[in-house]
Amino acid sequence: MRIRVCGVADLEPGRAKRVLVDHRAPIAVFNIAGKFYVTDDDCTHGLSSLAKDGQIEGDEVECGWHGGRFNIITGEPTFSPCVVRLNTYAVAVVAGDVFADVG
Ligand code: FES
Repeated sequence: MRIRVCGVADLEPGRAKRVLVDHRAPIAVFNIAGKFYVTDDDCTHGLSSLAKDGQIEGDEVECGWHGGRFNIITGEPTFSPCVVRLNTYAVAVVAGDVFADVG
């Protein structure tokens, strides 16, 4: 299922947005240096919103609750206490809108 997550102009580089999707956990869209990436939004350690409470540094997001980190591009955890990866989703930019394939 492909859904629109935001407009290109809605999200500045270095920012993220939580997106609610019917019948599934929220996802997060990140703008890293003008490229868009979509992952699960809930931290796999304690369900903090990475988009709302996290801090983006380069291509990583640091969870606002306990300082765990994830690579936004791969979803892999890069710092404890996070050990379980985030799901990542294919992204397409079409005519100024950002879409994600969320399965
Ligand atoms: S909830 Fe994210 S590191 Fe604990």
